[in-house]
Amino acid sequence: MDNPLLDRYIRMVEVSRDIASILDLDVLLFRVVQAAADVTEATAASILLYDESNNQLYFQASTNLDSHVMRGLVVPVKGSLAGTIVTSREPLIVQDTDTDPRHFEGIGQTTNFDTSSLLGVPLIHYGKVIGVLEALNKRDGTFNAEDIELLSGLGAQAAIAIENARLFQQSDLISEMVHELRTPLASINTAAHLLMRPEISADQRSMMTETIQKETQRLSEMATSFLDLARLESGRSQFQVHPFELRPILLDSINVMQGRITQKGLSLEQSIPDELPLLHGDADKIKQVVLNLLSNAIKYNRPDGVITLTCRVEDEHVLCAVEDTGRGILPEHMQGLFQKFYRVPGSEQIAEGTGLGLSICKKIIEAHGGEIKADSEPGVGTTFSFVLPYSSPETLPA
Ligand SMILES: Nc1ncnc2c1ncn2[C@@H]1O[C@H](COP(=O)(O)OP(=O)(O)O)[C@@H](O)[C@H]1O
Ligand SMILES: [Mg+2]
Repeated sequence: MDNPLLDRYIRMVEVSRDIASILDLDVLLFRVVQAAADVTEATAASILLYDESNNQLYFQASTNLDSHVMRGLVVPVKGSLAGTIVTSREPLIVQDTDTDPRHFEGIGQTTNFDTSSLLGVPLIHYGKVIGVLEALNKRDGTFNAEDIELLSGLGAQAAIAIENARLFQQSDLISEMVHELRTPLASINTAAHLLMRPEISADQRSMMTETIQKETQRLSEMATSFLDLARLESGRSQFQVHPFELRPILLDSINVMQGRITQKGLSLEQSIPDELPLLHGDADKIKQVVLNLLSNAIKYNRPDGVITLTCRVEDEHVLCAVEDTGRGILPEHMQGLFQKFYRVPGSEQIAEGTGLGLSICKKIIEAHGGEIKADSEPGVGTTFSFVLPYSSPETLPA
C-alpha cells in the first residue's frame, strides 16, 4: 500500500541510524541537511550552530552549497528567525519569509538563495540549544505538523551525533597537541638542567639560553595556532563576512613581511592587477593565509632566493600564487602538507615551525568556497596557490 508519510518516517529512521556513526563533523552536517530537506520535502535545508559564549549563531552547512556560501557566517540571535528558535526552544514555521521582519537577509545575499517558506527546529542536547536545523521552501503546499514532527525527530538525533563528532574531534586534536608539546618541553628541560652545570662554557651557556627562547617562542605559536585550528574544526570559528578587495590585503601582507625578506637577502616580485573583482568573506582570515604562505616562502627559500606573488582572474574565481626558489618538496612528501602538525622530514633543521599553518590555510580557504594546492619541483622551488570565488556585483549586499 502506498503511504507517503510512512515512507518519510522510514527514511528518517534510516538516516538517524546512519548519522550516529559519522564522526567527521563536516560530513555529518552535510548528511543532516540532506536528510532534513528529504524528509520535509523541501528544496533546501541548512544548519546553524549556536555558540553560547558569545550568543551567536554560525551558518555551517547547506544543501544548496554553491560556491559563494560562507561557512561560519555569523547570524545574530537577536532579531533573526534562527535566533527566535534558539530563544524559544520551539519549532517555528514561517510561510512567507519575505514579510517576516525577522528574516535575516545576510544568508540569502551570500548564498544567492531565495527563501520563501521556512521550518526550523532547535537542536537540543542535554537541555542546551546547540543549533538550529532549517528546511527551506516546501516543494508542494505548506509546511505542516508532520513536517515539524519529522524534522524534530531528525534534529534530536542530529544533536547527539554533532556533540559526539565534536568530542571525537577534540580528543583527537588534544592528543596530537599533547604529543607535539613534548618535543619543545623536553628541549627546554634539558637546556635548563645543563645551564645549572658549573663546567659549561659561556658559548654553551648562550646556546642553551637561545634554545630555551626559541622553544618557548614555538610553544607560544603552537598555542595560538592550536586555538585557531580548534575553533575552525569545531565550527565555532567566527567569520566577519564583508565584500573586500584582495589587492590591499596582498600589499599589506608584503609590507608586514618585507623586513624578514630583506633580512634573509631574498627579493620579492609581484604581479597584482590594479583592478580585481570584489571578494566576499573575512578579509583578516584571508590575510592570515597570505601571511603564512609568504612566511613559508621566506623560511624555506634558498639564500638570495626570489619570492613571486601573483594574482589574476580566472573564470569565476581569483587565483593567488606564492612561488619560491627553495629546494622544493619531493613528490612523496606532498600529500601530508595540509595535514595538521605535518612537516616535511628535515624541515626542523631549516626553520622553526609548528606544521599547523597550512592546515589552517586550507580550512580558511575551503570555508570561503575556494581551494588551495601546492606544486613543487625539487631543486627548483615550490608554488602554493589558492582560488577564491567572486560574486558578481549584483549578488553583493549593498
Ligand atoms: N614553500 C615551501 N617550500 C618547502 N616546504 C614547505 C614550504 N611551505 C611549507 N613547506 C613544508 O610544509 C610544512 C608545513 O607548513 P606549515 O603548516 O606552514 O608549517 P610551518 O611553517 O610551521 O613549518 C613545513 O614544515 C615544510 O616542511
Ligand atoms: Mg608556516
